[in-house]
Amino acid sequence: MQNRNLSKQTMARIEKPVLLQGWVNSVRRHGGVVFIDLRDRSGIVQLVGDRSFSKVSPEDVISVEGIVRKRPNHMINPHLSTGMVEVEIKTLTILSHAKELPLPIHTDGYNISEEVRLKYRYLDLRRERLQRNIRLRSRFVDAVRQYLFRHDFVEIETPMLTKSTPEGSRDFLVPSRLHPGTFYALPQSPQQYKQLLMVAGFERYFQIARCLRDEDLRADRGFEHTQIDLEMSFVTREDVMAMDENMITYVIESLGYTIKQKPFPIFTYQEAIEKFGADKFDLRTEEEKKQNILAFAWVIDFPFFEKTNEGGWTFTHNPFSMPKEEHKSWLLNKERIGDILTSQYDLVCNGYEVGGGSIRSHEPEVLQAVFEIMGYDKGRIYKQFGHMLEAFSYGVPPHGGLAHGIERLLMTITGEPYLREVVAFPQTSGGMTSVMDAPNEVDQEQLDELGIAIVKKTASIFEQIVDELKKHAVSFTVSDHEPVKTSEEAAKVRGVPVSTGAKAILMYADGKPIMVVVSGDKKIDIRRLKSLYGIRDLRMATPDEVKRVTGVEIGAVPPFGHMFSIPLYMDDHIKDNERIYFNPGRHDKTIAMNPHDLERVARPIVGDFSR
Ligand code: AMO
Repeated sequence: MQNRNLSKQTMARIEKPVLLQGWVNSVRRHGGVVFIDLRDRSGIVQLVGDRSFSKVSPEDVISVEGIVRKRPNHMINPHLSTGMVEVEIKTLTILSHAKELPLPIHTDGYNISEEVRLKYRYLDLRRERLQRNIRLRSRFVDAVRQYLFRHDFVEIETPMLTKSTPEGSRDFLVPSRLHPGTFYALPQSPQQYKQLLMVAGFERYFQIARCLRDEDLRADRGFEHTQIDLEMSFVTREDVMAMDENMITYVIESLGYTIKQKPFPIFTYQEAIEKFGADKFDLRTEEEKKQNILAFAWVIDFPFFEKTNEGGWTFTHNPFSMPKEEHKSWLLNKERIGDILTSQYDLVCNGYEVGGGSIRSHEPEVLQAVFEIMGYDKGRIYKQFGHMLEAFSYGVPPHGGLAHGIERLLMTITGEPYLREVVAFPQTSGGMTSVMDAPNEVDQEQLDELGIAIVKKTASIFEQIVDELKKHAVSFTVSDHEPVKTSEEAAKVRGVPVSTGAKAILMYADGKPIMVVVSGDKKIDIRRLKSLYGIRDLRMATPDEVKRVTGVEIGAVPPFGHMFSIPLYMDDHIKDNERIYFNPGRHDKTIAMNPHDLERVARPIVGDFSR
């Protein structure tokens, strides 16, 4: 490492030796000469050598000693920052050989399925666009820290294992081993802790805080997100907004982006609804959208409460907020509840809500009145928030703050349409983790230690099938074996021909899931299937979609479409068999039965569409 040169340093080392280490970005052979583009964290540089160096493959990790040469004028590559030079290879060592990659990485990647990209996220991240986004995220956080440290903020971490704080979402729960039967909640935000830090006298707190919310996933919403979370003491709403606006302006401009309007325009909630029909909106013109200009705006004066479906009241933003001063008496008297406005301020940018906060109610009576309006009785308030009310009884400064979603801010500056494009290891839209397949089942031993028994709301698919077959008085057998993934593997452990397997395949027909069953040795004749049933668009489901629709891993889907409430199409040839075999929702079990019984129980649409 000590003598290693980065590719970008080659420009300053013409006619000098270099030691370069990195990935083979591409290899081209031209007669007796080989050209290798070497990629490292600083960029790309071209290497040249004779054919003896041509045994490298794309994405191999190599170490090269060579001499930097200026390229002849007609060979200069203006698209490469090192395009003026190339490195003549003296020695080349392959440090690690790369197999062929399962996905292309020299494209923008938008067209590759999410499942594949996230399964191989460490390769997907080699993509230039993602390298840029993730590095930008790091510089973004760096600029935030610089600004806040300069303004006397203290960075303080708050616990991940904590008690639920209401932020309007479901909690992720973590069972306690030491106190069986009880749970921690992962923080939806550090809201209560940062307020306690104000009680503790830190006056200016911030944290780059991980927040976890079990909510419905959307393009701009993840289970996990990161907030720039801050809180200040002895401030008014205008103080917090001004401080934050200066921070955002500093960060955005220091990264080289342009802000449409400064100071940021301010709309009341009512104005925003009247003008834009929503409390988040995009103020850019079409031209400004093309130039990637950032149009920030504040929204203030939100209603504090809204009606619940059950006819009660709940908070719109944050129960810890102070109402507007002139509405405080309404809140304390619990009158004109729908008219009470909160001190909440949201920051909007290019159509996204990129931040929000408020001045807090540091008076215990106000906080208590909020929870009473929401229908909490004294006991529940004390149980859930007694610690806050008590803390506020020992000298609490007036305080307020806010939090920004880092992903949302990065989406606006990069113009990326999905949160996952600015997160290193995001979750799939079905809530599965990148690379590692979580959530997953755990060992019985772990459950025992935690005193947890899994009470499945529904029986497993396997149990449901067995029940159903028994109900229909079908004669069938169940056998256990080592887990099998393919029709060939399955036939082998079953000791029967591949043609006896009933292969159940999940597909999407004009956007709706369907199940298609063919023999293990046959393929679906897509054209025929489409023309037989008037399907316009037909495609295979992704493994993630299989899991989402059936709850079963790919390869273990049983030919029982009706169990998943989807139509079942069965190929006629299945019935050529005396007995058929399939995995009943598990890779390590097989059910064998007569195909006519399958027809009787599963009631498929039968046709001839295999080849
Ligand atoms: P709030 O719930 O509005 O406020 O969250 C603050 C900001 O965090 C971002 N955000 C999210 N980003 C991605 N995925 C999510 N699931 C997600 N949820 C929120 C948004 C949002 O504006 N404790 C208060 C802040 C405060 O009052 O100080 C809070 O968490 O950009």
